[in-house]
Amino acid sequence: MIRFFLLLSVLSATTIAIDKTVFKNCSRVEFCTKYRNFEPNEKDKYSADLKSLTIDDKTNVVKVPLKNDNGDTLNLLITLLEGNKVRTQIQEPSTTRFDLSDIILVEDLKSLPVKKSSIGPNNVYIQPIDTSNNQRVYIEAGPPFVITFTSDKEKRVVLDGNNFVMEHTSKSQVFTFKVSFPQADRLYGLHDHAYKMNLGTTNNGSANTMDPFRFRNSDAWGYEANSPMALYGSRPVVIGYKPEKTSAIFLLNAAEQWIDVASDIDNPYAYFIVEKGAFDLFTLLGPTPKDFVRQFTGLTGRAHLPQIWALGYHQCRFSYKSQDDVKTVVALMGQNDFPFDVIYLDGDHTDDYRWFHWNHTTYTDPIEMFNNISAAGRLAVSISDPHIKVEDTYDVYIGAKEKYFTKWANGSNYEADCWPGKSSWIDYMIPEASDYYASWYSYKKFNGSTPTLAGIWNDMNEPAVFDETIEKTMPWEVLHMGKVPHGEIHNIYGFTHVRSTHKGLMDRDNGLKRPFILTRSHFAGSQRYAAMWTGDNSATWEHFANTYSECMNANMMGMVFCGADIGGFIGDPSDELLQRWYQGAMWLPFFRGHSSREAKRREPYLFSKEVQAVLRKALKTRYQHIPSFYTLFFEHTRTGDPIIRPLYYDYPEVYDADTQVLVGTDIMGVAITKPGVNQTEVVLPGANQWWYRADREFIDPLLGDGKLTIDVDINSSPFFYRAGSIIFRKDRPRDTAVAAINDSYTVYVNCDQSQNAAGRLYIDDYFSFDYANKDNYLYINATYDNVEKTLTLESIDGDSTGLDAVFEQVVINKVNFTEGVYKTQQDVFTKSYDGIPLSEISIGSALRKNNKYTMKLM
Ligand SMILES: *[C@@H]1O[C@H](CO)[C@@H](O)[C@H](O)[C@H]1NC(C)=O
Ligand SMILES: *[C@@H]1O[C@H](CO)[C@@H](O)[C@H](O)[C@H]1NC(C)=O
Ligand SMILES: *[C@@H]1O[C@H](CO)[C@@H](O)[C@H](O)[C@H]1NC(C)=O
Ligand SMILES: *[C@@H]1O[C@H](CO)[C@@H](O)[C@H](O)[C@H]1NC(C)=O
Ligand SMILES: *[C@@H]1O[C@H](CO)[C@@H](O)[C@H](O)[C@H]1NC(C)=O
Ligand SMILES: *[C@@H]1O[C@H](CO)[C@@H](O)[C@H](O)[C@H]1NC(C)=O
Ligand SMILES: *[C@@H]1O[C@H](CO)[C@@H](O)[C@H](O)[C@H]1NC(C)=O
Ligand SMILES: *[C@@H]1O[C@H](CO)[C@@H](O)[C@H](O)[C@H]1NC(C)=O
Ligand SMILES: *[C@@H]1O[C@H](CO)[C@@H](O)[C@H](O)[C@H]1NC(C)=O
Ligand SMILES: *[C@@H]1O[C@H](CO)[C@@H](O)[C@H](O)[C@H]1NC(C)=O
Repeated sequence: MIRFFLLLSVLSATTIAIDKTVFKNCSRVEFCTKYRNFEPNEKDKYSADLKSLTIDDKTNVVKVPLKNDNGDTLNLLITLLEGNKVRTQIQEPSTTRFDLSDIILVEDLKSLPVKKSSIGPNNVYIQPIDTSNNQRVYIEAGPPFVITFTSDKEKRVVLDGNNFVMEHTSKSQVFTFKVSFPQADRLYGLHDHAYKMNLGTTNNGSANTMDPFRFRNSDAWGYEANSPMALYGSRPVVIGYKPEKTSAIFLLNAAEQWIDVASDIDNPYAYFIVEKGAFDLFTLLGPTPKDFVRQFTGLTGRAHLPQIWALGYHQCRFSYKSQDDVKTVVALMGQNDFPFDVIYLDGDHTDDYRWFHWNHTTYTDPIEMFNNISAAGRLAVSISDPHIKVEDTYDVYIGAKEKYFTKWANGSNYEADCWPGKSSWIDYMIPEASDYYASWYSYKKFNGSTPTLAGIWNDMNEPAVFDETIEKTMPWEVLHMGKVPHGEIHNIYGFTHVRSTHKGLMDRDNGLKRPFILTRSHFAGSQRYAAMWTGDNSATWEHFANTYSECMNANMMGMVFCGADIGGFIGDPSDELLQRWYQGAMWLPFFRGHSSREAKRREPYLFSKEVQAVLRKALKTRYQHIPSFYTLFFEHTRTGDPIIRPLYYDYPEVYDADTQVLVGTDIMGVAITKPGVNQTEVVLPGANQWWYRADREFIDPLLGDGKLTIDVDINSSPFFYRAGSIIFRKDRPRDTAVAAINDSYTVYVNCDQSQNAAGRLYIDDYFSFDYANKDNYLYINATYDNVEKTLTLESIDGDSTGLDAVFEQVVINKVNFTEGVYKTQQDVFTKSYDGIPLSEISIGSALRKNNKYTMKLM
């Protein structure tokens, strides 16, 4: 409660900014200050003892001792991996640093047999025996040693021993290293920071220009926009981008880190200062951004498909104060024709933050409430945090008290303040503790829950602690499993929390339904279990703009199911900002409106008729495009490919389009991130690539390859369909995504210059794992031929038993050039050539008869 008043007093001041006396900058953190502009003494620099190099016959690991003139010895281990990857580890001879591989990596790493050759006494060249693999590693002895990772015979990544330090005293295990990317034009990565995509320059080699990027998962309430400060999640990945020559590094380490970068120079570099944990570095050698994404998600895993409702609109607030409030919002959203699928129950639904128990006075009959929500065709998500109230009458606490909490070295449970008052934290690193917590999600133990409670929201899992003296988290010396200090694995706490919740929901529904979990804290690999949002942002244009770069970055690093609180969590957006935010957010995979306790209520029906109309249009546009998101999600499960993509992913050298997003290859959304805008500049990528502007009845086809200024008004933010694409929409207005699952499609064929187009559509039962376990899906490749006026459909693979699709209408967009003017010419077909209405053709059965079906249009 004290905490609550503190929040209020901060808010009553004019500023809503984060408290910088709580969250430190580099100059207030000893190890960061010490090592930021540090070069070791000559005698501390290591050389590689190449004469002692060994190659293990069984593991294919190359081992080289590193030695300095102080008598320190380390082991350098290099493993060339299948798929153009290299693993580099540096270890003390008797290592005590925690190895994260079993927790984070999903790939059964396949090492390549290698051989060495020497060009002189001071260097060694390591190459795969099967030379069809591209990667090579070149080690120069030094001092200092230099390791160069090459691909296609080009230097891609250089690890320079000049800046390498590894302390291994009882007081400090800090290590530092520098990697440079000789080919790269730009550095991207280091998700998550509220920053533009290009990491810019924090240190240009001679001076610090801003604070380094920090990883220390934090309850960063009210964080700054355009800042390198630590947020809620960490992916220690740096991507050195150059079309066809992209490489990246991934540091498998979950301790606090500070990273200086110089992106806007020749030979861009990143300099890591890491407080603890292992030196375990993966070099992913691309060569394209797509290859990098596949390599990284191959290592750390991919998301499973969400249930279809999770792609609809989520309505949230901190908090809906009572079950009556919840029911009223559900009813009013429906009465006012705002489609939505799910409503959220934030902390106030609980019995004073005793998770899995309901507030006795305000949520007296959760089952009745769920029945009411369900009768409206909607679902619910409730919040559940990892801190457990210390109270001897609380069942969740009683069962965990002896063995399942994080503990001090003396064996006492760690206790500190959080929402419920004095709390302890589940130690999800202990398998039994993780299973115990998971069991609370069962219908039996979570009294009052029903299948309408379709998902869980895991918040405060950095973990957040109400102790400002230690930057609001758990002290580093608290132990996991009785032995691993929290500080060494801090950044995976949220990962282990959602892993447990995921098991809980799998068990609850007997593995029959795909769990939906929303997490605030995350690490590389969290995509296997959860969606993320960008935490407690604010109602400003800058924060809105950052959501695009943050979620595109997340998608490049596997965390595809990403979104941000629409309107900004803290503060009150202007009507204009709120409208632009809904219009922009509809292209992000996770689509939720949320606001803080102190913010004015902002359910869409509370605004003027005009504003409501704009918000309704944005929501309906999102719902029309859910089939595109769903198809992309399926493709992600196979390949790891992002759902939303920065323009540079597909279009070489389109670097800085931070407020535009590609949804797959075919839809391009534009966020209007400034007020009072009647015209906006958009990047239309691709030489000779036409784009159909689709937010305005397809009036203008526009030719790509450059920037163009276009008119906009408040009714819509621009979006485009790529010429050459086929987009499958569900244009019948429905209240929910679930209600639309049997609806027929309107097919938008967007012809390119040669009047051709192609696209893919994926369909399954929308909730189970049969798509993965039984290959039960319908996956269609469609191609259009304008000469023949035919749409040819081919089944790509899968067993489509029981599944169908009907295309009630086919809309052909073509570019018509007459009298010097380009216009979209639109032809609409509802019948096949022999007069059969398209709506009567079952595509599922046609494709089951024959893998290919050609639909002639008239
Ligand atoms: C670091 O933070 C302190 C406290 O907020 C501030 O006084 C100092 O100027 C900051 N230093 C830098 C380099 O930003
Ligand atoms: C680095 O940045 C500092 C401070 O902004 C500036 O004075 C200096 O000229 C820059 N040096 C280079 C090499 O860009
Ligand atoms: C129930 O909710 C009311 C209203 O938010 C609050 O005043 C009360 O403290 C809550 N009671 C419990 C036991 O959580
Ligand atoms: C759900 O509750 C709302 C608000 O109390 C009410 O208007 C509505 O009729 C209820 N729906 C059903 C199906 O009971
Ligand atoms: C264990 O250590 C913690 C932290 O130092 C301390 O607060 C607690 O009182 C100790 N417990 C016992 C039983 O000594
Ligand atoms: C479960 O909740 C219902 C009210 O929804 C209550 O009547 C019942 O006593 C609860 N059961 C347990 C075991 O707490
Ligand atoms: C934009 O259009 C609105 C309404 O048409 C008008 O009031 C406003 O002055 C225009 N703004 C600019 C910057 O032209
Ligand atoms: C969709 O069709 C299936 C099979 O006919 C049926 O079981 C289901 O209820 C329908 N769903 C909706 C939302 O119409
Ligand atoms: C879809 O069809 C096109 C044209 O025939 C072909 O180029 C493409 O490879 C096919 N895609 C898949 C996934 O089968
Ligand atoms: C292009 O549009 C003009 C004017 O509407 C029409 O006369 C002409 O037939 C169209 N051209 C084609 C190739 O469809």
